[in-house]
Amino acid sequence: MREIRFDRFGGPEVLTLHTDAPVPEPGPGEVLVQVSYVGLNPLDYKIRDGSSGRAKDLALPAGTGREMAGVVIGAGADLDEAELGSRGLSVGTRVFGMRGPSDSRGTAAEVVALDADDLAPIPGEIPDEDLPRWAGLALVGLTAIATVQDAAELREGQTVLVHGGSGGVGQLLIPLAREAGAAHVWATGRAANAERIRELGAEPIPYDTGDWAREIERLTDGRGVDLVLDTHYHQTFLPSLDVVADGGRIVALPSLADLAPARERGIDARIPGIVVSRERLDHLVHGVRSGRLPLEVSQVLPLGEIATAHRQLEEGHTRGKLVLDARA
Ligand SMILES: NC(=O)c1ccc[n+]([C@@H]2O[C@H](COP(=O)([O-])OP(=O)(O)OC[C@H]3O[C@@H](n4cnc5c(N)ncnc54)[C@H](OP(=O)(O)O)[C@@H]3O)[C@@H](O)[C@H]2O)c1
Repeated sequence: MREIRFDRFGGPEVLTLHTDAPVPEPGPGEVLVQVSYVGLNPLDYKIRDGSSGRAKDLALPAGTGREMAGVVIGAGADLDEAELGSRGLSVGTRVFGMRGPSDSRGTAAEVVALDADDLAPIPGEIPDEDLPRWAGLALVGLTAIATVQDAAELREGQTVLVHGGSGGVGQLLIPLAREAGAAHVWATGRAANAERIRELGAEPIPYDTGDWAREIERLTDGRGVDLVLDTHYHQTFLPSLDVVADGGRIVALPSLADLAPARERGIDARIPGIVVSRERLDHLVHGVRSGRLPLEVSQVLPLGEIATAHRQLEEGHTRGKLVLDARA
């Protein structure tokens, strides 16, 4: 089968398409999935270039990609058809999901074996044309849930500033913050993405045509916001500390974000950690099905063009999600 692998840490060119990779054997508790589409994330290039904490113990050569959508084609010996059926994962079912934090195998391949607990069925009425969105849903969706519920502990009536409102995580943070009862959500992004941010339910604050920090000061009469949810971090984290209201909190998304400058100022600062659970995946299913989580896929590229996709991810201006077609 075809599979993307890399045998050393480095630039996008280390990603190689192999055409003779062995089809994986599903282990205990695992389901075998014929992959239709692979969702990509900034984490993928951070593992590939060795900068992620997760690269430390990674054995090379390694696969790449953390999430996908596809069709169940088999399962480990302990998962018979009755057990699969009780989980809604019978052979022939379309599924989506992501590898849990402790599973370092990739998903950019024609066939993958994944833990059954890391998968959920895609509702039958969803047309196949919509599968790219499901391939890119699990990682950003579970991150957005972990950010809003676990890290921010968003309470009804709070005011929220999201940095990067039209990015992969940002597109789900805005509606989930609204769903959790935020009184007002502002979101930064380039002026070109303002309309998309508005559609998602936030008031856009372009960072490329104005001073977003001054704008927040003005809009909140100098009080600041209760919560900053910072998906960008590099240029936004330090200036955001000036717009956190008294008793407020900042959540930075990059796992290696330095929270010390916030804590030194007595500001509660946190980094979310993804929890993969069927309950949370089903929450995402309901959100997409009802139209409340309208995650956008901005581009679908063939599996063999993964290096191009990684270059785009590294630029840091992805709108919604980048997805690979594992069949092309
Ligand atoms: N802690 C965790 O478990 C976890 C899980 C998932 C992701 N993450 C991390 O979260 C981060 C975001 O992930 P993602 O998938 O959302 O990335 P993404 O899709 O690449 O989105 C990046 C966003 O950043 C915005 N941006 C770029 N420069 C900016 C600036 N100067 N000010 C404000 N916004 C700016 C972009 O908006 P424009 O295009 O408008 O510039 C875009 O919306 C990554 O670092 C990722 O590794 C952490």
